[in-house]
Amino acid sequence: MARKNFIIAIDGFSSCGKSTVAKAIAKKLDFVFVDSGAMYRAVTLYFLRNKVDCKDSNAVNAALTDIHIDFVPNPDRTEIILNGEDVSEEIRLMEVSANVSEVSAIKEVRVAMVAQQQKLGKRRNIVMDGRDIGTTVFPDANLKIFMTANPNVRAERRFAELTAKGEQVTMEEIKANLAHRDHIDSTRAESPLRQAEDAIVLDNSNLTQEQQLAFVMEEYSKRA
Ligand code: DC
Repeated sequence: MARKNFIIAIDGFSSCGKSTVAKAIAKKLDFVFVDSGAMYRAVTLYFLRNKVDCKDSNAVNAALTDIHIDFVPNPDRTEIILNGEDVSEEIRLMEVSANVSEVSAIKEVRVAMVAQQQKLGKRRNIVMDGRDIGTTVFPDANLKIFMTANPNVRAERRFAELTAKGEQVTMEEIKANLAHRDHIDSTRAESPLRQAEDAIVLDNSNLTQEQQLAFVMEEYSKRA
């Protein structure tokens, strides 16, 4: 049966600019934007604050029943709310980035997040970015984009983003974190990062944001 809502899934490696493209598309089409990585980051922040042992499945399950994540759109950005607290800034810190791949590889965490993501996509036009959106969360998404970029370009972008916020990081730390996350994200047992067969590849190493938006809009127009 034909679905009335339209789902755009954007997957790819860390720091490829997925959220930037996804946000621009959502704005242009007046779709809801959901950053699924922010949900895994919020869970990771909770685990760090509450010293939840990732290997203790009872502790993980208890934590998951206590975690409530909401997205609150406002004119400048979408706030990520963890149990009533705006954690939009804190989830981007290096300490969270350093632990998020381990936390998001836990089966129970993925089951809980995927269920929430699927609920967000019901009866809404949505753009969701992540690692497994086109493969696991919405395997029948109307448009699937798989984003990639040269690792040095990705590290430079991430460095600029973090230093602009005043975080003290080195290029070496960033490159190591990206390589580490790529490895865990693509080799984990539970819905690893991989390109869906029907996804269209967008390598944005040498593309401006406008060019990326135009690329996705063209693919959207073919399917709308
Ligand atoms: O998109 P991001 O870099 O903010 O995501 C943070 C981490 O969350 C990433 O290293 C892997 C994980 N993630 C995931 O496992 N599945 C998703 N759909 C989105 C993110």
